[in-house]
Amino acid sequence: MAGNRTFSMIKPDAVAAGNSGAILKMIEEAGFRIVALKKFKLSEERAGQFYEVHKERPFYNDLKKYMSSGFIMPMILEKENAVADFRKLIGATNPANAEDGTIRKLYAKSIEANAIHGSDSDENAAIEGNFFFSGLEQF
Ligand code: GTP
Ligand code: MG
Repeated sequence: MAGNRTFSMIKPDAVAAGNSGAILKMIEEAGFRIVALKKFKLSEERAGQFYEVHKERPFYNDLKKYMSSGFIMPMILEKENAVADFRKLIGATNPANAEDGTIRKLYAKSIEANAIHGSDSDENAAIEGNFFFSGLEQF
């Protein structure tokens, strides 16, 4: 139901560091149900499409390279108030500003390699989920 789902993606730094299991455990312990999940690599072009809203930003090229540098784990998550609660669980974009106990505080390496993505609105959660998963894969 609208408002109860968000989209997330464990980013290349966290997958490569072997932290995906610990991060999934935190997500489940926070009360999110994993609706859909996969693991693969994005091309630079697809990574650019995903972050198209940032295409005018100075870090856009670096971001595309980073997001296509290794395996990622996109997922759809379900919980009451999913978008806002998940943003709280992951913490601030820059891990230096992230609160204790958040995923980024524990696992992010830098403002760019910040371990995990979380949608910023219900509308974007639906767009981003559909970017990675077909309707048949969304239970
Ligand atoms: P996402 O959940 O990944 O969308 O992060 P966010 O919503 O907390 O931040 P935002 O959408 O503003 O930025 C998207 C991503 O771009 C961030 O998660 C970082 O990976 C990267 N990023 C943001 N700001 C910077 C920056 O100043 N420098 C660099 N190199 N990367 C940045
Ligand atoms: Mg964002």
